[in-house]
Amino acid sequence: MRTPYYESTIHKQIREKREDRKERIKGDLMLYGGDVLKSEEMKKAFEQTHHQWSTVGEHTFRVAFSSVMICYALRKLNIKVSIPAVVIGALCHDLGILGRSEKFSSAKECSREHPKDSVEVARGLVSEMPEKTEDIIERHMWPAGESEVPNSIEGVVVSVADKYSAVKDLVKGSEIKNTGVKNYLRSEKQKIVEKILPQEEKE
Ligand SMILES: [Fe+2]
Ligand SMILES: [Fe+2]
Repeated sequence: MRTPYYESTIHKQIREKREDRKERIKGDLMLYGGDVLKSEEMKKAFEQTHHQWSTVGEHTFRVAFSSVMICYALRKLNIKVSIPAVVIGALCHDLGILGRSEKFSSAKECSREHPKDSVEVARGLVSEMPEKTEDIIERHMWPAGESEVPNSIEGVVVSVADKYSAVKDLVKGSEIKNTGVKNYLRSEKQKIVEKILPQEEKE
């Protein structure tokens, strides 16, 4: 007979802390990125494949989540960081990649040009762009490609979260290949949509 699992007090505290942090991140994403989250572009982002096994939308949420989490850690160290700039920067950083196959003739061109297009998309979605946001988006590809180095701590946060999330997208893909799990994208997308998007966006 299996011994029933009793969660220890310390594990319970850790779990509750993690849940609180997730809620806090969701709150910040809604508060500062509501216009982007509700946009048509964000809907389309969930339909375009990205990093082989992911979608632009899923990748975007991973980057945004990780970026805000890094901001909390930096603030604990008394390092000032603008969460509104990071949220808008992270949510918009790859929206310029939508329609990739029609817009760009090569992967190299896409890698070089999509950050500028993402800035254009962000300008159309956000009425008052927080300071530093355009540079965060334009330089997010660093240290890859021909990108300039980020010129703010917020820019470094989003660039690092972007690389970390890209690896995570690809590694999750390799898990699917190894385990034969199907419909990963659909189930994961649904999970993310249910967790993050405002109520009216659920379908
Ligand atoms: Fe990108
Ligand atoms: Fe990205």
